[in-house]
Amino acid sequence: MPATVVVGTQWGDEGKGKFTDLVAKEMHLVVRYQGGHNAGHTIVVDGESFALQLVPSGVLYDHITPVIGNGVVVDPRVLIAEMDMLERKGIDTSRLRISGNAHLILPYHQEIDKVTERYLGRNKIGTTKRGIGPTYADKASRVGLRVQDLQDPKIFRQKLEAALREKNAVLAKVYNQLPLDAEEICAEYLDVCRPRIEPLIGDTVGLVHEALEAGQHVLLEGAQATFLDLDHGTYPFVTSSNPVAGGACTGAGVGPRHIDRVIGITKAYTTRVGSGPFPTELLDEVGDLLIDRGHEFGTNTGRRRRTGWFDAVMLRHAARLNSLSELALTKLDVLDTFETVKVCVAYEADGEIHTQLPYHQSVLHKATPVYEELPGWGVDLSGVTERRALPAAARDYVAFLEEQVGVPVNLIGVGPGRDQFLHFAA
Ligand code: GDP
Ligand code: IMO
Ligand code: MG
Repeated sequence: MPATVVVGTQWGDEGKGKFTDLVAKEMHLVVRYQGGHNAGHTIVVDGESFALQLVPSGVLYDHITPVIGNGVVVDPRVLIAEMDMLERKGIDTSRLRISGNAHLILPYHQEIDKVTERYLGRNKIGTTKRGIGPTYADKASRVGLRVQDLQDPKIFRQKLEAALREKNAVLAKVYNQLPLDAEEICAEYLDVCRPRIEPLIGDTVGLVHEALEAGQHVLLEGAQATFLDLDHGTYPFVTSSNPVAGGACTGAGVGPRHIDRVIGITKAYTTRVGSGPFPTELLDEVGDLLIDRGHEFGTNTGRRRRTGWFDAVMLRHAARLNSLSELALTKLDVLDTFETVKVCVAYEADGEIHTQLPYHQSVLHKATPVYEELPGWGVDLSGVTERRALPAAARDYVAFLEEQVGVPVNLIGVGPGRDQFLHFAA
């Protein structure tokens, strides 16, 4: 059976959690393929909210095997806290499987993330300070510790001591910080975390392929989003992994021929947390209204998100980068009260019109949006569950986005709840 990818098409927080949960109903395995606890994926079931950071969003179903793939970076302390939270809410986490090849986030990664951001001052990236970048940097430098190292305390200790020699020198000499103690880290990771994590470690690549061979459905869940991608995003204001659909192949261990459906999760407007260019950003009361109506505050960090109109130029590029087969348009209800809604259909920079994303980032920094303005619908959509119940202006808005992006909208979100969605595809 083929695999499906869920990918964020903007700058994150599009509603991947809600739609992964929705699509997971028809799946057997849900694999997180990159990122770490910089993610915050929200699922709301019967008024109860689950904010997931590391555990795949399919975990709420009994029939799903949730898998943390090799492309993820794992802080075992956070993972255990998340499993405890889920267990307290009556969710069984014993089916969770973690790739032994996933890299471990260690306390020095978090320290380095914090101090490098501080040193960057006003040029800071605005990271989540979770140690994500430094962990992926160590992975690329081939000095990282992996989840499988927890299974062998002697090796874990050896690798940790080697890493700490360098990290402590950097922390002390460059950043004037206190050194970290190997014994303390061993006590936390080996004595406290290891007994909980070890039974969950496994050959996740084997698991995924056995499922595919048995005709089961596999869902590959992305974190972050296309324009936070290390290669394709607004570098350096990006995360340190590859959220794009191609990252699902490396981060889960499947070849591209297995993937036949790529669902691009897209907010009906745009948001971004942290620094970096944002052509359609609204710094006025319209932007504030989007924050208020959309509750645009970070799921984990609580940071206020930046808001702006829908950007079709970005989406056209996301469609190319990810081979999007369909869109799931989320938070359409947030636009309910607007008299008119705008869509950026092109950029203008130095007298030139760009309908595709300019390849040089300095153009993006000075791009001003060219807008089309459409009538609003002025109707509460939160209870709408069928396409024909959508007001004509809302239908026209969605059809306009489809036409501009060149990808059909299959699902529409009209509220945070699990049941607040409709099928738009004719
Ligand atoms: P993710 O990181 O992509 O999973 O998204 P987040 O969970 O960080 O942020 C999306 C927020 O929007 C969460 O609070 C969701 O509960 C909420 N949400 C998701 N879909 C909808 C929708 O269609 N309408 C509204 N009003 N809220 C939604
Ligand atoms: P989900 O999966 C929104 C942003 C940070 C920062 C940049 C780099 O919930 O959509 P990092 O800590 O990854 O080194 O930070 O990326 N960022 C996110 N923004 N949603 C996320 O995840 C994000 N994960 C990271 O704000 O700008
Ligand atoms: Mg989020």
